[in-house]
Amino acid sequence: MLSKVFSAAVTGIEAFLVEVETDISPGLPCYTLVGLPDNAVRESRERVSSAISNIGLRFPLKRVTINLAPADRKKEGAAFDLPIALALLAASGQLPPERLERCLVLGELSLDGKLKPVHGALPIAASCRKLGLEGLLLPRANAVEAAVVRDLEVIGVETLAEAVRFLAGEQELKPTRVDPNDLFSSRLSYGVDFSDVKGQEHAKRALEVAAAGGHNLLLIGPPGSGKTMLARRLVTILPRISLEEAIETTRIHSVAGLTGESQSLVATRPFRNPHHTISDAGLIGGGRIPRPGEVSLAHNGVLFLDEMPEFQKNVLEVMRQPMEDGEVSISRSLITVSYPARFMLACAMNPCPCGYLTDPAHSCHCTPTQIKRYMSSISGPLLDRIDIHVEVPAVPFDQLADKRSGENSENIRARVEKGRGLQLERFRGADGIYCNAHMGRQALKKYCVLNEECLALLRQAVTHFGLSARAHDRILKVSRTIADLAGSESIEAAHLAEAIQYRSLDRTAMR
Ligand SMILES: Nc1ncnc2c1ncn2[C@@H]1O[C@H](COP(=O)(O)OP(=O)(O)OP(=O)(O)O)[C@@H](O)[C@H]1O
Ligand SMILES: [Mg+2]
Ligand SMILES: [Zn+2]
Repeated sequence: MLSKVFSAAVTGIEAFLVEVETDISPGLPCYTLVGLPDNAVRESRERVSSAISNIGLRFPLKRVTINLAPADRKKEGAAFDLPIALALLAASGQLPPERLERCLVLGELSLDGKLKPVHGALPIAASCRKLGLEGLLLPRANAVEAAVVRDLEVIGVETLAEAVRFLAGEQELKPTRVDPNDLFSSRLSYGVDFSDVKGQEHAKRALEVAAAGGHNLLLIGPPGSGKTMLARRLVTILPRISLEEAIETTRIHSVAGLTGESQSLVATRPFRNPHHTISDAGLIGGGRIPRPGEVSLAHNGVLFLDEMPEFQKNVLEVMRQPMEDGEVSISRSLITVSYPARFMLACAMNPCPCGYLTDPAHSCHCTPTQIKRYMSSISGPLLDRIDIHVEVPAVPFDQLADKRSGENSENIRARVEKGRGLQLERFRGADGIYCNAHMGRQALKKYCVLNEECLALLRQAVTHFGLSARAHDRILKVSRTIADLAGSESIEAAHLAEAIQYRSLDRTAMR
């Protein structure tokens, strides 16, 4: 007998339909699986047969042929266990096909018949309707995540037995329903806040400017000065993530297998903080069937590279393309996959190898050559994409001991959102520009016009500090943002002067 069960797999964050066709015919028992299965799919036989016997049903001891169509796309992972098991039960007459035909099925089986969560539930749920299916049957742990998609009947099950009873009409199960808006608003808290940071007014202001214009930034300071602490709080002052952005980011996290019962919707801007030993595949994505890397997991949020000089130069250089395009493409022999990767980059480093060059309380014994080598170890192409350099000094004890707390993230975010609002107006209709940081040469010319006073100031700064043309453009962009924060139509000398301050690496001519 023949049966067919619908399942799906993802390429990038898009799902495609996989039909699990099963044929059982008389003959010596054998089990053939075709349609480009990987090892995990091939091993489904052991899990499926054991799970079926363990719930008191029969695994057919005949000639079993299973085809995963379309045959030309690679199938990987264990999510086909449940559809294969159900297809076998249907083909051997142990399960009526009517309910089964209307839904898409996903799930990994353990030997005792329990279901384990799968990757990619959200992108698959999102395409169910497009694929013409009205229901999605999947492990309960994935149900809330999938139910974020509207107008889809999501049935979460714990075990194979429960799935069978439901499909046979012996047990009714309530579809999982969530209101994405409720889920969204209940999970908006970051758990950290800018009011935790004592002192550091200069650094906090720099972070506000960076957030307001979407500028990448570099924090430079001695150990313990609070660089990591500040970077973690950057997400809390970015404009609130929208539901669409949250769903987009969740799709990526879902494919990476980072979602589950505790995290069904990534409702806050992600903060990703990879260790400096990360590989280029870990950073931009990779694997035989490419999985998203840190740049994509940070989509719509912040990617923080702490101890930047410790990262392998070639690893950082692979970030060039994603940073330019806002997405990564990874090519493999069989497929090319792209993942969104629009993030703000924050980096941190010490001012010298020992770390204490700028700390008045410690003495630094690094030689000028050591310092020079340390500075030149940071990746040039990456540094070129950083608009703002912030010096983070060690906080004096009496400031740390101060009981009063600083301004909270919500207040700062309100100003950031106002500044971003002006930018959205400004760049309406300009393709690919959403904030000042995205401005190219043309836009700079149009929107960053300087008056006489500013021109004189900039000329002086360029000659005095020996600034490069690149630094010059970055100063213009950042002054535009500072003017936006001040609600000023034109860039004034004070705005420009502040922007010049944020080029400390150029000014100290450390490079
Ligand atoms: N301005 C501050 N206000 C309150 N606490 C602070 C401040 N600066 C530092 N701290 C405290 O010091 C700890 C160390 O800070 P953090 O790890 O951010 O320093 P760092 O600059 O990243 O150091 P390293 O160079 O060693 O990575 C923080 O966890 C925090 O408790
Ligand atoms: Mg740190
Ligand atoms: Zn030193």
